[in-house]
Amino acid sequence: MKLVLLGPPGVGKGTQAHLLSDKLGIPKISTGDILRQAIAQNTPLGRTAKKTIGQGKLVSDDVMIGIIDEKLRQSDCSDGFILDGFPRTLPQADALAVITPIDAALSFFVNSDELIERLEGRRTCKRCQKMYHVQFNPPKQSGVCDVCGDNLFQRRDDHRETIEKRLKEYQKQTAPLLDYYRKKHYLKEVDGMGEISQVFRRVLEALSIA
Ligand code: AP5
Ligand code: MG
Repeated sequence: MKLVLLGPPGVGKGTQAHLLSDKLGIPKISTGDILRQAIAQNTPLGRTAKKTIGQGKLVSDDVMIGIIDEKLRQSDCSDGFILDGFPRTLPQADALAVITPIDAALSFFVNSDELIERLEGRRTCKRCQKMYHVQFNPPKQSGVCDVCGDNLFQRRDDHRETIEKRLKEYQKQTAPLLDYYRKKHYLKEVDGMGEISQVFRRVLEALSIA
């Protein structure tokens, strides 16, 4: 199954992509994770992305399309994939349509107070990237990953000022993709409010997966 996950920052794309990847046995490709890894490794891509992400803006379409084109050609994507964070602009969506057809675009929605609460409380494992929330999904031991025992960190773009810029950028650049996929009959809208497991059940229902 070839899936695209859409929705504003903090809506739960990464969380649901992880669950879906386990359930379906297909890789999740998170462009945000790819960029953060490049930043951690201080590669040329990482140096450009660091500034852009810090400003709450989007990395250029050419760069992102190049990354995804290369990823989707790899053999582990031949049975399907879950795209988390791509496409994010109309040119990216057009480029994806040329690379490969998709089966569905899942669009998550929650109210804006909830988005900010989710983002401000998010913590991520430095090593395995597993996500937690200080209140909604806390680790067993504060600040420590349940899976690999490494330290958790707060993303640099998860502070109020940058969150507000990211939400504006989403409205301007990414929200038009909902109509784009609706017109192509790929769009499936999923209520993202409620427990993570409850949202996941809605995802499976939307995809008609038992
Ligand atoms: P990216 O990393 O993709 O960030 P984002 O889209 O802003 O989305 P987030 O990762 O913040 O949120 P999410 O929806 O994944 O939510 P999560 O599951 O973590 O991109 C970062 C930056 O990279 C961009 O700003 C841009 O600069 C650049 N970039 C990336 N892709 C690009 C592209 N294609 N083109 C150009 N630039 C690009 O959940 C959030 C929190 O809520 C977690 O703590 C989680 O535990 C909690 N949570 C999840 N579900 C629930 C629930 N049901 N109830 C309660 N808590 C929940
Ligand atoms: Mg994410």
